[in-house]
Amino acid sequence: MDPYHILDKYYSDNPELKHVLITHSQSVADKAEAIALTHPELEVDVEFIRQAALLHDIGIFLTDAPGIHCYGQHPYIAHGYLGADILRSEGFPRHALVCERHTGTGLSLDLIRERNLPLPQRGMKPISIEEQVICFADKFFSKSHIDREKSVDQARKSLLRFGNEGVEIFDNWCKLFL
Ligand SMILES: [Fe+2]
Repeated sequence: MDPYHILDKYYSDNPELKHVLITHSQSVADKAEAIALTHPELEVDVEFIRQAALLHDIGIFLTDAPGIHCYGQHPYIAHGYLGADILRSEGFPRHALVCERHTGTGLSLDLIRERNLPLPQRGMKPISIEEQVICFADKFFSKSHIDREKSVDQARKSLLRFGNEGVEIFDNWCKLFL
C-alpha cells in the first residue's frame, strides 16, 4: 500500500491542510520508526508503523478546526474514528485501529462515557506495540507548530487534560521507548 496515494485521494483539494498533515505525519513516522529501530526487542513491524503513522490523522479534514485549515462538521476529537472509518472503507482495518486509538494515550470506554465524548461507545486505547509507539510518537508533534518537536516535559503536560492515568501511561512509555 502507498500511504501517499491514499492521502492524495482525500487531500488534493486542500493543499494547505495537506501540507500541515504530511509534515506532522512524517515527523510522527520518523520518530516511531526511530523508536522501532532503537528497540529491536519490541519486535515492531517497521514497514507497517511507517505506513500507519503517515495515515493516523487522515480523518482531520472532516473536523471543524479552521486554525489548521479543517473545514468539516465534526468535533476535532472525532478525527480518530472518522479516519478509521476511511481506512476500513479502503480495505486497511489494521491501519484503521491506529487512527482510532491514538488520541491522548488512548480513550477508555469509561472515559468516553464519563465525559460524554462525541464518540462511538467502544474502548479506543492502543493495544498492539505499533499502536502504542505511534500514539506515543504523536505526543511530540502538534499541528499548530509543525516545525518543532516537543520536549518530554512538554509532551507530558499536553496529556494532563486527559487525567492522571494518561500521564502514567506516558511515563511508562518513556521507560520502554526512549
Ligand atoms: Fe497526529
